[in-house]
Formats: sequence, C-alpha cells, structure tokens
Amino acid sequence: MLKVSLNGAKSFFEERELFAMGAELEAAHKTLESGGGPGGEFTGWYRLPQNYDKDEFARIREAAKKIQDDSDALIVIGIGGSYLGARAALEFTRRGSSPKVYFAGNNISASYIQGILDEIKDKRFSINVISKSGTTTEPAIAFRIFRKALEERYGPEEAAKRIYATTDKEKGALKRLAGERGYTPFVVPDDVGGRFSVLTPVGLLPCAAAGLNIETLMEGAREAMYACSERNLDNPAWAYAAARNILYRKGYKVEVLACYEPAFRYMGEWWKQLFGESEGKDGLGIFPAGVDLTADLHSMGQYIQDGERFLQETVVTFGQTGEPLSVEACGDDGDGLEYLAGTALHEINLQASRGTMLAHADGGVPVSEIIAGAMDERTLGQLIYMFELACGLSGYVLGVNPFDQPGVEAYKKNMFALLGKPGFEQLREKLLARL
Ligand code: PA5
Repeated sequence: MLKVSLNGAKSFFEERELFAMGAELEAAHKTLESGGGPGGEFTGWYRLPQNYDKDEFARIREAAKKIQDDSDALIVIGIGGSYLGARAALEFTRRGSSPKVYFAGNNISASYIQGILDEIKDKRFSINVISKSGTTTEPAIAFRIFRKALEERYGPEEAAKRIYATTDKEKGALKRLAGERGYTPFVVPDDVGGRFSVLTPVGLLPCAAAGLNIETLMEGAREAMYACSERNLDNPAWAYAAARNILYRKGYKVEVLACYEPAFRYMGEWWKQLFGESEGKDGLGIFPAGVDLTADLHSMGQYIQDGERFLQETVVTFGQTGEPLSVEACGDDGDGLEYLAGTALHEINLQASRGTMLAHADGGVPVSEIIAGAMDERTLGQLIYMFELACGLSGYVLGVNPFDQPGVEAYKKNMFALLGKPGFEQLREKLLARL
C-alpha cells in the first residue's frame, strides 16, 4: 500500500500544526462521508471501489473483448474528466498499442484530428465517445468527424455497432443520439462528477479495451479505500492532505508534482485537473503544477532550487520497475562513468530522486513523498483513490465546494457568442466591440 513520508516537509512546520490539521481533516472526512457537505450529491466516488455496478462492469469487459477482436484502433473521444483518467492509466501501465488507442475531442485542432484520420485510414476502428453532459463542444465536434469516417467505412448499421457511448443514464444530446441510432450505452453515475469518474465506464472501458486488468485496478482502489478510511495521520490521504494544506496557509501556494518515471506524465495531468478544478475557486486554492524528472531538473530545476519561495513539492516514487537495465562496463573511463558500471538504472534514478529531494528541501521547498509499489494496475488504483480522497478532504479544509466547476463556464459563453450560437447575440455584440 502507498506510504507518505513527510521527512522533507516537516522542518517547515511544527508538530502541533500537524495535529491541529488532523482535527480539521477529521471533521472534513466526517462531512465527506456523510454526503452532507457542499457538493455532497457528487461523492459517489467515495465508495465506488466497493459499490460499483457489477453488471455494467461485466458489460465493459464484453465490449472490450469485441473491440479487441474487431478493431486495430479505438478512438476515445472526450475532454477533461472524460479523457485524462483513461489516458493517464494507459500511459502509466504502458498499454494502448493493441488496439492502438487514439484520444480525440480534447482539443479543436484540425491538424491533430486530421493526423488521426490519416493514421487510421487503413485500420479497422471503433469509437468510444464519452461525455457526461453529452453537450461538450470539443468532443461533440470530434464525434461528428469520426462518426462520419466510421459510417463511410462500414455503413450506418455496422458503424452503430462500433460506437460505444458513455454518458448520463437519461439526459443529454449524446444519450438521445445513442438511443436513436443504437450505439452501445454506458452510464456515468449521477453521483460521480467528471474528474472523479476514472473508475466508472468513463475510464474503465478504454482501459479494458487497451488490455488493462480492470479487476486489479478496482482491487487496488479498494485497498486504498480501506487504508484511507483510518482516521489518523498514518492514512496516506490524510498525511498528504495535511502537509499540503498546512504549507498552503504558510504561503506555499504552488504544488509541484514530480516523478522520475516518464510514464507518470499523464497521471500528473489527471492530478492537475483533479486538484485544480476542485480547489481553484472563490479566490482560493493551491495551483497544481507538474515536472518530469530528471528531464526538468535541467530546465525548471533551476527555479525550483533557487527561485521565489512559494513552491511545495510532492514526489511520487515507485519500487523496482522490473526492467533489468544497467550501465554497461566499457573498459575505458573516457566519460567518467566507470564507477557506475553494472549499476542498475533504477538505482541511479533512486539516488537522483533522493539527492534532489534533499537539495530542494535545503533550498526552501518543502517536499512530501508518496511512496508507491510497482507501476501496475494495483498501484494505479491505489493512487487514484488516495488522490481523490485527499482532494475531497483538501477542498473541505479549504472551505470550498470541491465538486463543482463554475469557472469553466466563462470561456464557453464567450466562445459560443463569438461563434454565433443562437441565444448569445447580446454577448456577441459586447465581445466584438472589445476585440
Ligand atoms: O470534471 C469535470 O466535470 C470536467 O472536467 C468534465 O469532465 C469535462 O468538462 C467534460 O465534461 P463532459 O463529460 O460533460 O463532456
């Protein structure tokens, strides 16, 4: 199970502050569990690893099998919480090459979409379109384009059999379309919001189609659910949430999530959305940032070590990755590396991370460490649940509703107005006058 070490952070606060935060977390946990806090109607993820819909789960596995049998490519269309979790899971476990999974609908770039169309032109393909609301512009645009390509290739009837629509159980344009055209439907539970939905069909269908073991993924999440139900600072979600919130109040307002495994990169993107969209409101919230190490030690490393002191860092480390690569012995020491001959890359990476954590703490950056096991489905499930819980708790400790996202409407309104969507005429005039 995950462990959290605050060794690199605790010199930045007093023991008594940790205990006081423990009391705040206790209250926050109680509120979260009761479902009586702000946004309580969207806390279905809290018990999801145990309470998930087993029939839907079996349907996911069946659909995944069909996709594997009849498709070389799967186009997963979605944005935000309907995208990042699946992408993070596939990259973390290094899967998604058979069938090859392409992610679309997470931007409006013509060249990006055309690139996928070109790549799949000789491939058998299926589509998983994911949108809880069923009305989000980016995925809706991509879906029109890929649906047309699919219908041209297979005809409308066979195309419909290759479309899997993950959306609300009864409302929204996508739900209607799925019903009318006979797409295979999957449900995003009412009580689970987008960025907390990776352990629903939103994340599970792309994961299963890409060959991940989704039972083990849920098992990992369940293990974390039990471990994180402890009401003390041995609970990894509590320890992590405690440190970051104490530090936030002391002015460490940017949290940098760091990892020494490139496959973690999209977990970082998923984490940024989870925390950024949940906490960043009412003029409050830690700004979530991410770095890939050691690569970014040669760029952002300068700032982290030496720049303005408002950063806190959370490092995620993993046990042996399993690959037996080590530094080759080569007989001459021209590159000064002979002292490392025979040393495993994992060991070198480990010492790089240890040295960097100490250096950053010495440079005035509090460092918390999340210590995880192997980079597999079990650990992935554990991390997902632990971060979700830490996020919900942090939101309540901060005093915001962690389960809404009113701020994302502003860009949408302006975009609709500028594109001439009916109903936005007045705003359009105002915006055009400003441009
Ligand atoms: O967390 C959220 O609610 C958002 O990021 C949504 O997931 C995102 O906006 C996509 O929404 P939808 O699934 O309705 O298309």
